[in-house]
Amino acid sequence: MKKGLFISIEGGEACGKTTQVRMLKKYFSDNFNDDQFMFLREPGGTPLAEEIRKLLLHYNGEAPLPMTELLLYCAARCQIANTKIKPALNKGNIVIADRFYDSTIAYQGEARKVMSKSDILKLTKLVIGDLRPDLTFYLKLSPAEAFKRKEGLEPLDRIESEGLEFHNAVAKGYDYIAQKESDRFCIIDASLSPEEISKIIINKIEEKMKEFNINKENSIDKEL
Ligand code: TMP
Repeated sequence: MKKGLFISIEGGEACGKTTQVRMLKKYFSDNFNDDQFMFLREPGGTPLAEEIRKLLLHYNGEAPLPMTELLLYCAARCQIANTKIKPALNKGNIVIADRFYDSTIAYQGEARKVMSKSDILKLTKLVIGDLRPDLTFYLKLSPAEAFKRKEGLEPLDRIESEGLEFHNAVAKGYDYIAQKESDRFCIIDASLSPEEISKIIINKIEEKMKEFNINKENSIDKEL
């Protein structure tokens, strides 16, 4: 069976993730055939999961219980993992996810304390099996710095409206998973310029592609 390459990008608020995803999209469309790669975001990425995203981030009715919130993130992940990510990887494609289960460890585990981080990992395994990114970029920025960057901007969603304490906990959650699954983590100082960060990301991806026998404009050769 062919095995593709699964890359995820993670980070707290205002870390520059959106800019990096945009730069990475350009790199992939300049260097690969469109049917070789797929960009997805979490929560979201399928019609149903995008509806769940709206509920999670923009629903203005009753406040979801922390457990409800956790299960909605898991429901969205179940949908995208099984209908999009696994089939693409089985075809040998490259999948780039803007957030994956590390976000749940950080936000629902460490920050909301819905359940222990190890129980979230168990729940994740029940929902998506052994699916795990091969390479994760964590754009690390101190929450104090992130708050400076956001000064004067209106919060865009419920989580962005949380205070410094919440975001300090998110950072702690990322440190936990980055240490626990260190084999796939590439931690990047998000205070570098977007160009410097992009260069680090692309170099690392090209290294990983060599390991996986992926050639630009060719399908992936790695047979498992
Ligand atoms: P973003 O796409 O702009 O990063 O927004 C997604 C928001 O959802 C962000 O505030 C982090 C949050 N989130 C969680 O709390 N848990 C999760 O598992 C995921 C994927 C995202």
